[in-house]
Parts: sequence; structure tokens; C-alpha cells
Amino acid sequence: MLIDSHAHLDMEDFEKDRDDVLARAIQTGVCHIISVGIDLTSSMAALNLAQKHAYISCAVGYHPHHAETCKTSDLDHLAQLASEAPVVAWGEIGLDYFRGYASTEAQVRIFEDQLALARDLNLPVIIHDREAHEATFSILKRMGKGERKGVIHCFSGDVDLARAFMDLGYFISIPGTITYKKAKQIKEVATAIPLSCMLIETDSPFLSPEPRRGKRNEPAHVYYTAMEIARLREISFEEAARETTKNARALFQLPRDAGE
Ligand code: NI
Repeated sequence: MLIDSHAHLDMEDFEKDRDDVLARAIQTGVCHIISVGIDLTSSMAALNLAQKHAYISCAVGYHPHHAETCKTSDLDHLAQLASEAPVVAWGEIGLDYFRGYASTEAQVRIFEDQLALARDLNLPVIIHDREAHEATFSILKRMGKGERKGVIHCFSGDVDLARAFMDLGYFISIPGTITYKKAKQIKEVATAIPLSCMLIETDSPFLSPEPRRGKRNEPAHVYYTAMEIARLREISFEEAARETTKNARALFQLPRDAGE
């Protein structure tokens, strides 16, 4: 059984065939999906989906791309939503200095505000860090104290950075890009770090793995990521699936799914 720890099921890309996408995930052995919000609207949509399906949980939060439009009242609204049962994390939040859609100041401000909120609500956080390793690390080091930690989603650093985040108590989530021939660094990370610190994800509809590269991604494809991790570590697919599923269940305190 697999858990896709990060998908954007609410997105437009799934509007026409969402039920088919979910059915394919179940057929492939995906037992749970975390649908992740990027702003108020998408967080509400993710919550709506999670309320309809026992095998979907959700995270609410403001992505750094949308930092400029995020108002204090939006975060208050999200904090209210966070008390609903299918909300298992706050995210995705963080810093994106690659696209730079929002100013650094705005990104840092809402990142810190949301870390504080997540801590008050005792929710783990889902962290987006793109070309902002140093700043993300230092903010988490300063503000990430507390029992419930989180996950560095779609990890894009090297082994040393993965270990540094792990030392702070964070899980490392491996995306489908690990299947790309030239993705040397993420292959190294997935081989070097303990399986006990690892989650897997699709980031659907983005980042489709080989052999689906270039097409829309979907939760069923988390299978290819688990296969590649098993191949690299010379373990069985079952072990890779079992351990990453166990980790996701622990971090997000997921209910025991039917079929486990
Ligand atoms: Ni995402």
C-alpha cells in the first residue's frame, strides 16, 4: 500500500476525470492521498474533497507564490478550517526564490506567520523550498520547535541538507523526478538517508515521472517513485511502500485505512 503525501487534487487539471484518477490510484495500491492547498480557495476545495473520500486527507495553507495576496483574514479563515477532521497538516508553505512570484519580504512574512499558526494548532507543516535552502533552513531552525514537525516536500537539496533537515525532525519527501536519468542528486539522497525519514509524493498534476514524463501527473504514479527507491536501495518494492506508508501515517496521524 502506498501513500501519496502530496497532490493537488483540487486543481483544474483534474476537473474532467477526477473520479477516474482516484479510481486508478486505488487500483494501483494507493491507500491514502494528502491533497494540499496553495491558497484559501484551493484549501477549501481540498477540504471539500477530503470530506467526500475517507482515503483523502488535506492540508491548508498559503503557498509562497501567493504571498502577496494573502491577507491576515485569509490566515484566520484557514485556521478555522484547520479544526475540521480531514485537515492533517498546514501547507504548503515556504519559500520559492526560483520563480520569485512574490517578494522575499512577503514570502518570509507569511511563512513565519503560518509556522506560528501551525504550532499553535499542533499541526505538522508541509514545506516548499525551491532555491531557498539557506533561508528555509534558518527559519525552520529558529521557529520549528515543538512536538509536531513536518516534511520537506519535493526535496531538491543534497544529502547534507537532507541530513540537516532530518536533524531538525523533518521528513524528506521524494518526488517522481527521482525516475529521471539525470536526476543524480535526488537519487543519491534517496539512497543515503534512512528509510525511516522518507515520504513519497507525486505533486500531481506536476512532475510526472518516467515513463509518463511530460504528461499530467496523478497519484497512481507514486508507484514509479517507490519502484525507483526500491531499485536504488536494493530492497523490495513492498518494503519501500510499507516503510514510506508507515512514516506518512505517523507524521499526519492518519486513520487506519481499509485494506491495510
Ligand atoms: Ni505542491
